[in-house]
Amino acid sequence: MLSLKNVSKSFGGVKAVERCSFEVEECTITSLIGPNGAGKTTVFNITSGLTKPDSGTIKLLGKNITGMPAYKIAQSGISRTFQITKVFKNLTIRDNLLIAKRTNDTEMNRVLESVYLNKPLDTIASELSYGQQRLLELARALSMPHNLLLLDEPTAGVNPQIRQELKSILRNLRKEGKTILLIEHDMDFVMDISNTVIVLNEGRVLKTGKPKEIVKDKKVLEAYLGK
Ligand SMILES: Nc1ncnc2c1ncn2[C@@H]1O[C@H](COP(=O)(O)OP(=O)(O)O)[C@@H](O)[C@H]1O
Ligand SMILES: [Mg+2]
Repeated sequence: MLSLKNVSKSFGGVKAVERCSFEVEECTITSLIGPNGAGKTTVFNITSGLTKPDSGTIKLLGKNITGMPAYKIAQSGISRTFQITKVFKNLTIRDNLLIAKRTNDTEMNRVLESVYLNKPLDTIASELSYGQQRLLELARALSMPHNLLLLDEPTAGVNPQIRQELKSILRNLRKEGKTILLIEHDMDFVMDISNTVIVLNEGRVLKTGKPKEIVKDKKVLEAYLGK
């Protein structure tokens, strides 16, 4: 579905991503993990077109999308959320969703239901809890026509109940045929729902495998515990 080949990106002297290659299979939940500063968000920014890579190739369903502007990549079927929530706090839920797609109340309520956010569309986003704002951002990402969803730390700062709900939201999406690539720090969460785990360290792919293979890998443990 998505493939990165030898993708590199430096910021000044910092090699944020270095010859990074991996594939995301269709209808899977794939997790991108790694210590802070490993380059995970940069990989998302490159994939969604917010950052241009210095070199390398990114393909979506076989189509080369390297260096395409973000809006074109979004049109090609990649939708995303951000590590730091980007909902418009002084707008209503309805207006936050209308930014993604011109649609009607019925359809919006259906999307909200799918993320367990049972609030009236007229609710001002700032009245939602932080976790609910994250769900609203997810709902907005889902409103955009897409087949690949990029989620940057969806559980960060959300309460345990929403964290559990997120698991079933993501599993339901996979069941519907969506492909999900997520950055996540909560290892229990990652190991519970992922088909594949990609470990990044210092901009490079350290290891790719099934959750069971990742948890017992010596190099991975060192990357997390070594420093
Ligand atoms: N826009 C930027 N300008 C300068 N340095 C950046 C920028 N974005 C990321 N970096 C640097 O690139 C490295 C990887 O960052 P990032 O992709 O955010 O890591 P992660 O998401 O894994 O924590 C870090 O050293 C970070 O400081
Ligand atoms: Mg990050």
